[in-house]
Amino acid sequence: MSTCIYPGSFDPLTIGHLDIIRRASTLFDEVVVAVLHNSQKRCTYTPQQRVEFIEACVGDMPGVRAIHFEGLLVEAARQQGAEVILRGLRMEADYASEAQTAEINHRISGGLETLFLPTRPAFTCVSSSIVRELLYYGVSVAGLVPGAILDRVVAAYQRPAR
Ligand code: PNS
Repeated sequence: MSTCIYPGSFDPLTIGHLDIIRRASTLFDEVVVAVLHNSQKRCTYTPQQRVEFIEACVGDMPGVRAIHFEGLLVEAARQQGAEVILRGLRMEADYASEAQTAEINHRISGGLETLFLPTRPAFTCVSSSIVRELLYYGVSVAGLVPGAILDRVVAAYQRPAR
């Protein structure tokens, strides 16, 4: 049984994330989509909302499940029995910091590897931060977040204080 963990903030899930999950589900028996805390970010949606958004979109993918974990990614991986960390790479500029994090995770876990999947060209302009920026200005995010969660993502959006 091969298991990967696909970690992120998912604030909120985008069609780019969902494409990575779908492709990962063809490569691994189990894909654990892990909503984790990024200490560099303040999230708009609660961890529970972010997990619910993911669950609403992966029902047709056997072997895919979503979790929320408060702690280190490598600890979540250990608890879930994941042999591999999976990250999507949207652009070249992401590579340096992702490679650094992969190396740290390898060291502190005693050998856990990170695999990178390149984002499909159609999705390179899609990110959670772009989605939130458009929501802030009241612009439609249809086509950027999965249709199954579009209404919920819009309804649950809270404009941050300026
Ligand atoms: O979607 P993001 O914000 O790029 O995801 C980053 C995330 C949440 C995967 C990363 O911040 C993370 O792994 N957080 C958990 C704490 C941890 O393990 N940090 C890495 C040690 S260097």
